[in-house]
Amino acid sequence: MESTGPLTRDLVGRARRVFGGGTLHSWAIPEDATVVIARGQGAYVWDADGREYLDCHLGSGPLLLGHGHPAVTAAVKEQLDRGVSFHFFNPQVIDFADREVAAVPCAEAVRFVSTGSEATFYAMRLARVFTGRSKILKFEGALHGGQDYAAQSTSPHHPRPFPHPVPDSDGIPAGATESVLIAAFNDLDSVRSVIARRGDDLAAIIVEPMQRALLPEAGFLAGVRDLAKECGALLIFDEIITGFRLAWGGAQERYGVEPDLCTLGKAFAGGFPVAAIAGRREIFEVTRPERRGKATFAWLSGTFNGNPVGAAAGLACLEVLSQPGVYDRLQSIGDRLRAELPVAAQEAGLDVEVQAIGDGPVVQVFFGPGPLRTYRDVLATDQNLRKQFGVELVKRGVLTNPGEKLYLSLAHTDADIDRVLDAAQESFRILATAR
Ligand SMILES: Cc1ncc(COP(=O)(O)O)c(C=O)c1O
Repeated sequence: MESTGPLTRDLVGRARRVFGGGTLHSWAIPEDATVVIARGQGAYVWDADGREYLDCHLGSGPLLLGHGHPAVTAAVKEQLDRGVSFHFFNPQVIDFADREVAAVPCAEAVRFVSTGSEATFYAMRLARVFTGRSKILKFEGALHGGQDYAAQSTSPHHPRPFPHPVPDSDGIPAGATESVLIAAFNDLDSVRSVIARRGDDLAAIIVEPMQRALLPEAGFLAGVRDLAKECGALLIFDEIITGFRLAWGGAQERYGVEPDLCTLGKAFAGGFPVAAIAGRREIFEVTRPERRGKATFAWLSGTFNGNPVGAAAGLACLEVLSQPGVYDRLQSIGDRLRAELPVAAQEAGLDVEVQAIGDGPVVQVFFGPGPLRTYRDVLATDQNLRKQFGVELVKRGVLTNPGEKLYLSLAHTDADIDRVLDAAQESFRILATAR
């Protein structure tokens, strides 16, 4: 099935010439799943040729309400008339901060930035300054953005023995890589072993509480919480994906473990480029400008921090998310896909075990035996089949970044979930026939 029309092909050709490296990102979407999106509304987007897609990518997660939610659009339009950027406190961003502090269990104070990568960068810096230590423990396979301390063992093809990181990019100074120690998700012994060697210089343990789509096993996050406390390191939950998505209070509410700091982004800002660091008030004391040159000090600043348009969008978005029934709905559509996708694969005659994992409105499909507990379990599954499955979904009008997570929104109806399942079943059939 041809997924690209003439206008799309022309635009992609122009993009390949004008964009450095030929892409917007660090990865390439397979040629036959490349889409140029001209418009989005609700759970749907339309490409440059007018072809409709059910959007299960949601801008890589932010559009938890769907595209063009009327409350968000109205709030943004209103703000556009009042001004778009001040670099000073404004009522919108103060209200937005208040909402975070009220909602997120660990949040006594908050600071805004523009992207998730900035948020994790500053969370790590805050931890280093607050503890006076230098090392960061991160988990293999976890993604915390593109900054030098995060781009370590995110998706290594050839992982090194723990705790040695594999940088995800060339050009990262050795000092940054050496400051990061790697452990295995869902494996408290590997965390203990890092702490036994370097615990006295450990500033923070950063964890995605749901790592990509891997669920934390019972006791894992609580165990990490205890180990961090015992060795004097801060615990950072990177909730860029899970914040306001798995529950109103994020993964820390859903899984019942409170970190010292967390990062927030994507879902909470109605699609606008806003992220945040939130946590214990005393940790943020090191950012006080009056400390500069006099006491330990963490520089935390940015031109768009506190942007009123993003804050207005975020406030409107959180108002919708705070309504009764929202998180039950998001959980139920995710649960339905997780239950029915493996059955659809079996019915399609696929001779490979299919795992549909994740939590809330986040679902990822893997091809290979379960249970999937760690990045290395994921690495042992069939990556090509996973990508191919995503390409087939796109060809059938279900938009996804092939091989990555499927994101669902409040705009997805039950009929839309049926449509995902139909497209998946056909895609599984294609994969089965090709084997
Ligand atoms: C858990 C997590 N942290 C951090 C980031 C980086 O966010 P950004 O792409 O906004 O820099 C991402 C991006 O997907 C993420 O999923």
